[in-house]
Amino acid sequence: MIIGIVAVARNGAIGRDNKLPWHYSADLKFFKRTTMGNAVVMGSRTWQSIGRPLPERLNVVLSRTGDVKLPPEVRLIGSKEELVELANEIDSDVFVIGGASVFSSLRDVIEKWIVTYIPENIDDADTFLPDDLFDGFTPGDEFDLGDGLVVRVFERDQ
Ligand SMILES: NC(=O)c1ccc[n+]([C@@H]2O[C@H](COP(=O)([O-])OP(=O)(O)OC[C@H]3O[C@@H](n4cnc5c(N)ncnc54)[C@H](OP(=O)(O)O)[C@@H]3O)[C@@H](O)[C@H]2O)c1
Repeated sequence: MIIGIVAVARNGAIGRDNKLPWHYSADLKFFKRTTMGNAVVMGSRTWQSIGRPLPERLNVVLSRTGDVKLPPEVRLIGSKEELVELANEIDSDVFVIGGASVFSSLRDVIEKWIVTYIPENIDDADTFLPDDLFDGFTPGDEFDLGDGLVVRVFERDQ
């Protein structure tokens, strides 16, 4: 399954200066245990932000230009179509982990979203989720991570 996973502030912010504009270890731990053993797909800017492969996951970087330096264990793909091929090839789930441009361009192949709601407004953010990203999805399971963090799962409408 192709699953989007994102943490979003109250005002829709997800990034600032190519970084996460907050630090919540409960969310980082949740992200780690959710994605562990699966594939993680990210845009070239998010790859630059993270700066190293996430351990024990197949790391995949999406770039149209291909102008990105990657260690040999990281896979480079150039399009949404290649992502769908990859998802059909492998047994594990594929988590689309950002950033905003990747979420927007892959939105029609994402089957489920896992969203952490960050209890802050980030006034000086420069990267936001589109307002209508979860249109066509129905909210399902919801749970608390502590520290005011709430996770909600959205399933695509049939
Ligand atoms: N809050 C969260 O959960 C979260 C998660 C991840 C990232 N972020 C934040 O989001 C920000 C980065 O987001 P961003 O939108 O600027 O960048 P991004 O989505 O990480 O990367 C953009 C790049 O990805 C490539 N790309 C995007 N769509 C593609 C497609 N359909 N096919 C092929 N390549 C594609 C292009 O690379 P080329 O230019 O190389 O062609 C594009 O320039 C940072 O602040 C980061 O910290 C937040």
